[in-house]
Amino acid sequence: MLPVYKNIILTGFMGAGKTTVGRILAQSCGFEFMDIDQIIVASQGKPIKDIFAEEGEEAFRNYETEALLSLQNVSEAVIATGGGIILRSENRQVLKQMGLVVYLRASFETLLKRVSQSDQRPLADLSTGTEPLKGLLDSRVSLYEQADIVADTDDLDSRQVADYILDRLKKVAGSD
Ligand code: S3P
Repeated sequence: MLPVYKNIILTGFMGAGKTTVGRILAQSCGFEFMDIDQIIVASQGKPIKDIFAEEGEEAFRNYETEALLSLQNVSEAVIATGGGIILRSENRQVLKQMGLVVYLRASFETLLKRVSQSDQRPLADLSTGTEPLKGLLDSRVSLYEQADIVADTDDLDSRQVADYILDRLKKVAGSD
């Protein structure tokens, strides 16, 4: 099945499964898979946590916008974004122009479980407890919800989330 959209863009908080679901989705619809965090890591030659530590969050956000703008003419891609890409209204506008924006929604408990398995996320420092991370999620929810489609992922595995999105795409395209 080929979606009628130029691209499919996955947004959501850290640990939402954007990369895993994105790969499956890309394979299912014959689109290329792209990951904005990976583009930043490749262009800067260092991991994200080093960018944050050495240059600060603002520098990372600038790289993020730069990476996004570099994809503006891409088509037939599933694009996984970093959890904070929706913070800048400029980014949100560009995302909407680039394709269908899908928010992978998960409860804080689910996200926390996944995020605590990795030490690669500078904004997911749990050393002072879970409240700061919960606050970060709460502050972003209304921005994530500006997506075209919301996929609730709590009770689904990655394949099921991808299938749900494909199903919604068919319905939106009117080909069901
Ligand atoms: C961030 C999420 C990360 C990465 C960076 C900042 C955020 O991506 O872009 O650490 O602000 O939520 P993932 O959502 O893929 O973990």
